[in-house]
Amino acid sequence: MFMLKKNKLSWVASVSALALGVGLATASAPAQAGAREQAKRMYDRIAGVPPTDGELAAMLAIMDSDSNDVTDSDSAARDAAALAMDSPAFYNVTLKNLFTPWTNEEQTVFADLNDFSATLIGLVRDGSDFREALHGDVIYVGDVNGIPAYSTGSNDHYAALENSGANLGDEDILVRQSQSSVTGLPANATAGVMTTRAGAKAYFVAGTNRAMLRFTLMNFLCNDLEQLKDTSLVPDRIRQDVTRSPGGDSRLFLNNCVGCHTGMDPLAQAFAYYQWSGEEGEEAGSIQYTGGSVQPKYLINADNFRYGYVTPDDRWDNYWREGQNSALGWDSGLPGGGNGAKSMGMELAHSEAFAQCQAKQVFQTVCLHAPATQGDINQVSSMVSSFKSSNYNMQTLFTGAATYCRGD
Ligand code: HEC
Repeated sequence: MFMLKKNKLSWVASVSALALGVGLATASAPAQAGAREQAKRMYDRIAGVPPTDGELAAMLAIMDSDSNDVTDSDSAARDAAALAMDSPAFYNVTLKNLFTPWTNEEQTVFADLNDFSATLIGLVRDGSDFREALHGDVIYVGDVNGIPAYSTGSNDHYAALENSGANLGDEDILVRQSQSSVTGLPANATAGVMTTRAGAKAYFVAGTNRAMLRFTLMNFLCNDLEQLKDTSLVPDRIRQDVTRSPGGDSRLFLNNCVGCHTGMDPLAQAFAYYQWSGEEGEEAGSIQYTGGSVQPKYLINADNFRYGYVTPDDRWDNYWREGQNSALGWDSGLPGGGNGAKSMGMELAHSEAFAQCQAKQVFQTVCLHAPATQGDINQVSSMVSSFKSSNYNMQTLFTGAATYCRGD
């Protein structure tokens, strides 16, 4: 259903011409008035701007071609909604606003485009397997005259790309590259947006690298650690910095701290070789990767509990495959353990929770409310199915949600 973008554009142009001749002749029929509103709404919800007359006519021609009662056919509506993804505003506004809060701890939308958000925008535009976001050797960079080149030491390239107003939906402007070739990280140390400059600046800065896991779970699996707390598992990988008797009370450790740290610490071990060189709250800095050598931040505050786990390498294990968090739907085809951020990112991206989370977030963006009714919940399930059967093409989620909410 999703043609290559260049083909789609020329195809739209010809449908448009056809619609001007044929579509407008029937525009006064009552059924057509409803379809017109619905087409406008679908376009506006996806692109954030109204369609031009030509675009609207093209959508109506598609909706009309499939069915006598144009408001009835979901598949025609989906095809019509796909035209809204040709709008530059879909990339420069809708997607930028969706992804920007994922790129900083404050979760603010008021931040410049960066390599994290640009890469997610590119993956959507190309209809790529969106799971690459957490494990791919991929980055999207701008190809626009007169802007600073990509730099591991600053975000100037992306700020200038955004300020240029260039259409990020154009594959000659926002270009896919291998991350390792652009940033110099070893290919096997790349893990999608987690190892971009913006990702590292936000979540590898100071601290203990647990923040990278927490925010990845929040943004990509729609679960914060509070929801994942499980005190029933073996706490043998909790680091030394976590005291076993907070405030002199070991019950607090067993009933509370264990709930998060038992599962979190052996997953966050995947990041043992990463560090952000800069200071908290400052722009300067770059990602550091010390393959084979554990970052000192993993070994700090060892006196808090000397018998705690001492991190020897970047071996991760997913303890949450057992117990209540097996409900996140881990991929039985993966081993549930490994070395480094790439395989751990794949573990997260292959979960059922990952697919569900993208469907829910797109539903909310397009329908302007979280899924609430039984109908909404059924719709999210059906979007998840299309997402999977399209090899995790995010575009299916946008057209699916727009079609479902076109009558609202
Ligand atoms: C709801 C989940 C959760 C619970 C419960 C929890 N932690 Fe944590 N803990 C985290 C997360 C997430 C981080 C990483 C925070 C960050 O860097 O943003 C963290 C970080 C830490 C750190 C490292 C702080 C640093 O220097 O960055 C220590 C020490 C720690 N926790 C101890 C404890 C103790 C002791 C308890 C029980 C009293 C506890 N935690 C309970 C989730 C939890």
